[in-house]
Amino acid sequence: MNVDNRMIFCHDNLDILRGINSDCIDLIYADPPFNKKKTFTAPVGSSAEGASFSDIFREKDIKEEWLKDIEEDHYAIHKLLSAVKDIEGKSSYNFCYLAYMAVRLMECHRILKETGSLYLHCDPTMSHYLKLLLDSIFGEKNFRNEIIWHYPNRFSRLGNFFSFMNDNLFFYSKTNNYVFSNMPTAPSTRTLKSYQRGWDTPGDALLVYDENKAQRKIREYQEKNKRIKYVKPKQVNMGNVWSDINIINSQAKERTGYPTQKPLALLERIIRASSNEGDMVLDPFCGCATTCVAAERLKRKWIGIDVSVKAYELVKERLGKEVENKGTLFYEELVRFNTDPPARNDEDAYSTNKKYVYIISHPQYEGEYKVGIASDVKSRLGSYQTGDPGRNYELEHSCLTPYFREIEAYIHKKYENKHEWVQGDLKDIQFDIEHYEHENE
Ligand SMILES: C[S@@+](CC[C@H](N)C(=O)[O-])C[C@H]1O[C@@H](n2cnc3c(N)ncnc32)[C@H](O)[C@@H]1O
Repeated sequence: MNVDNRMIFCHDNLDILRGINSDCIDLIYADPPFNKKKTFTAPVGSSAEGASFSDIFREKDIKEEWLKDIEEDHYAIHKLLSAVKDIEGKSSYNFCYLAYMAVRLMECHRILKETGSLYLHCDPTMSHYLKLLLDSIFGEKNFRNEIIWHYPNRFSRLGNFFSFMNDNLFFYSKTNNYVFSNMPTAPSTRTLKSYQRGWDTPGDALLVYDENKAQRKIREYQEKNKRIKYVKPKQVNMGNVWSDINIINSQAKERTGYPTQKPLALLERIIRASSNEGDMVLDPFCGCATTCVAAERLKRKWIGIDVSVKAYELVKERLGKEVENKGTLFYEELVRFNTDPPARNDEDAYSTNKKYVYIISHPQYEGEYKVGIASDVKSRLGSYQTGDPGRNYELEHSCLTPYFREIEAYIHKKYENKHEWVQGDLKDIQFDIEHYEHENE
């Protein structure tokens, strides 16, 4: 691993993620902007004063190079983005948002260990599109859950539609062999008949029979010197609808004022379920560092990334409070701050910089060849073939090279182009590709 524990990176997360070695993170929780098309700002006077982030994605925010990477590494996402463009018509907010997310999620997948998992926090604004992205990157078979985080209705009487009362969290594992060692449980909600009956001392929150034999929950049951009859609900595996965790309201003790701050209880549940003590947890959009604080509490290692410097100030402040409350000394110097992306030093680092330049033909286009770039040439051929009922596309040539961009540009400049097809003789094109490669070796 080329990144250390208790590190806050203050920089665009794409550069930081690209600098992290492959297969070294156990758990990623990502809570990105949701594409709400507005700017979020922390209230004046709060600990987070000065923090703000834009949740609007326009063409100027998207780099050409990202679109190239998507086309070369994940052709399915390239096609998905074209479809999103068609759905949107003139505006391109969703297209831009998804391109921005795609390149970052591709890196998240790469840096996860084989046993690792990702939780992507979003809301119904983009959840349906994000699930398609995640299916493309992680594989549909590695989708584990959509968690519905259900909270009370805060916006009653707004608009002529049903109120939004949930966020969505997509849980994907990198492979089928993933950490899920601490299965969270919850009281069963099945009918009373299936509950155990028993006796217990009063004082706890219990489920009891009232006179009408109906199930009732009571918070405090204080009856002096009297034992009460109660039914203890069975503990069962927790479901995917979480309505027992409150949003951070204005009175919440943990509130920092950071816009869109998530509750520690939510992060603790995720971290406990999908990692073990000592594991490395990463949050690429860490905001006021809720994930880092939860990970520290649960004895996990952690890395937080945010463009805002507030993450560093707030994690120190929050961890400081936690430690003070326990009566121990504040270890401010343990939390490190970095603005430079790390440099990869894993075995994969060099091969990641190579991609295939391929020549693909189709009998219908005689004398014309598709010359392009792909990191997985077989799946690229497969993508072409799925769009062709006769499956007549053929791979004529491919070479893995670090000069993929230069070679593609050279061939497209040298030969005539028509609808992205290069016109020329197959042997000549192949010779030019190989020659360029050898010249630069
Ligand atoms: C929804 S908030 C995260 C809130 C966080 N979960 C918490 O509990 O405080 C999204 C965060 O992503 C950060 N952000 C947005 N784009 C980023 C990027 N490209 N790289 C790093 N951070 C980014 C914003 O500054 C903001 O703090």
